Amino acid sequence: MMKALILSGGKGTRLRPLTYTSAKQLVPVANKPVLFYGIESVVAAGITEVGIIVGDTQEEIRAAVGDGSQFGAKVTYIPQDAPLGLAHAVLIAEEFIGEDSFVMYLGDNMIAGGITGLVNEYLELGCNSEILLAEVPNPQQFGVAELTEEGQIQRLVEKPEEPRSNLALVGVYMFDSTIFESVKRIQPSARGELEITDAIQDLIDRGLSVHPHVVRGWWKDTGKLEDMLEANRIILETLDVRRSDHQHRYPGCQLEGRVEIGEGTEIVDSVIRGPVVIGAGSRIEQAFVGPYTSIGDGCTLIGCELENSIILEGSEICRVPRRIDGSLIGRNARIVATDRKPKAHRFMLGDNCEVEIS
Ligand code: TTP
Repeated sequence: MMKALILSGGKGTRLRPLTYTSAKQLVPVANKPVLFYGIESVVAAGITEVGIIVGDTQEEIRAAVGDGSQFGAKVTYIPQDAPLGLAHAVLIAEEFIGEDSFVMYLGDNMIAGGITGLVNEYLELGCNSEILLAEVPNPQQFGVAELTEEGQIQRLVEKPEEPRSNLALVGVYMFDSTIFESVKRIQPSARGELEITDAIQDLIDRGLSVHPHVVRGWWKDTGKLEDMLEANRIILETLDVRRSDHQHRYPGCQLEGRVEIGEGTEIVDSVIRGPVVIGAGSRIEQAFVGPYTSIGDGCTLIGCELENSIILEGSEICRVPRRIDGSLIGRNARIVATDRKPKAHRFMLGDNCEVEIS
């Protein structure tokens, strides 16, 4: 039987300030937490025994995922004292995995078409490990694989300064229990983490079989703002909604293309141009919501224009004079114009926030 190990701890420094108060794996893409796409693709591959590695944000992850029954899975939580690396996460999961093979899935990754084909390929090949590789423009920021002419893995290097290929390791890996010896044999890297690339290199050095699979479809690591917005665009592109009933519910509004609207959301005197998802209990008035925008529950948008953005629940955007684009706005944030004197921008921003004014 195959198990799954989903990594949902980590530091999330690249998504601050959101990750000061919340887990990056719970940031919604098309109004569904990134992590849920991963759990769903694991379950779709027929794997129901799921271990989730959790760190500082464990309460929030537990509250969202629960016992896993909403996904048809049985979830076991594995607390990691500190984010000591992907291979460290494997190390602490040994008791949960036991003698079984498993798929390790990074909880902030999304992969087109799921992982069913990959899991089946791994089981058919009967190799010790299968790793996924994707061509990337910036291999310096990834674990990089060098392949032989026959397409076998020659060497894996974590974040090389001078990469010898553009094939990066993608956040889904299949292992059998031989990986546990490797994660015990390796030493922490210069950044103090037990690297999964080193552990896989150790499998190769021990003569065990590691099969590389080059992914052709899209794949996203949502650890940064740009990637989060791109994942949101890709998922919204697949949105499938008929709009005929919308026009009826929102007289006087212009709803164009695919627009999904939650219960109790009021839309008045506005133009919504899909693909767009809007959660429940929000209010949109005299606004333009353009393509590739996801708006959470209980948001208020009045007299503003936005597109290509993710707005989390409870946020308020009122009478902002310029269009908002390419933005990720956390829970209960307020961006409002006032008549207060002196006429000035006023901010109360958390640490590591980013505001660009044009
Ligand atoms: P990363 O995105 O590589 O690391 P990070 O979460 O620390 O983020 P940043 O680089 O922005 O600081 O981690 C990939 C996934 O694995 C992510 O979902 C977090 C998870 N993870 C763990 O669960 N434990 C760990 O020790 C590490 C390093 C990551």
